[in-house]
Amino acid sequence: MYTKAAAAIKKAGRVAAFTGAGISVESGIPPFRGENGLWTQYDPVFIEINYFHRHRLESWRLIREIFYDFFGKAEPNAAHKALAVMEQKGLLHAVITQNIDNLHQAAGSKIVHEFHGTASTLACLKCRAKYPVSEIGLEELPPVCPGCGNSLKPDFVFFGEPIPEPANSNSIREAEISEVLILIGTSGEVMPAARIPYLAKQKGAVIIEVNIEPTIYTGKLTDIFLPGKATEVMKRLLEMLMPASPAL
Ligand code: APR
Repeated sequence: MYTKAAAAIKKAGRVAAFTGAGISVESGIPPFRGENGLWTQYDPVFIEINYFHRHRLESWRLIREIFYDFFGKAEPNAAHKALAVMEQKGLLHAVITQNIDNLHQAAGSKIVHEFHGTASTLACLKCRAKYPVSEIGLEELPPVCPGCGNSLKPDFVFFGEPIPEPANSNSIREAEISEVLILIGTSGEVMPAARIPYLAKQKGAVIIEVNIEPTIYTGKLTDIFLPGKATEVMKRLLEMLMPASPAL
């Protein structure tokens, strides 16, 4: 299967990756679903947009605990780094990620479409100004906009919010023109993100899937399933693609 996957990637004029929470699990960030999934410990209502507007402090307390105090210290792992090396070598054009952890950029990937936004910046609910979270600090909650004094919100997509532009259009276009789409660590359960692989498939892309277990894509869309942890599979795939590739 690895030989077939490497051959498809090398033959393709354009390759993209579509990543979910599973690619960051080996960086210490739990997935949302499945064993030890975040949503088995917390009710996701705290990042539902209407709840956030009605219970700003309670919501912010959980947001800070989970997405900043806990996730904030994560480092990119070998799977993130493998995608960055593939981009540098012209074997991958872009990453479409559902993740908000900025680990693809931290690993060196340059073209990253953040379909669900990012936890790295905060946005003002009133004047729409954006600030790096490092500039604002989260000691005081809810954080307020230095410009107009109104509340700030993390710049990632809450349940009930639209997908941001240009990430939405860029992701759709990328899925439609890529000849190979590598799915890494996603359950495919959340729309509209989960339709990205279907768009690629409709346009004739080869779907390579990396996951520790089969998903709803595996029996339907996936052409080449590479079972295993993202770091192990991506290291092995990179070796197939570039035998003398640097250690990750
Ligand atoms: N390597 C590869 N895959 C893994 C690993 C690993 N080490 N660990 C877990 N996985 C797989 C799981 O089998 C599962 O299929 O990663 C997937 C994680 O699925 P989810 O937790 O549902 O994450 P994701 O698909 O990204 O969720 C989509 O849901 O809650 C929203 O906005 C949130 O972006 C998120 C969206």
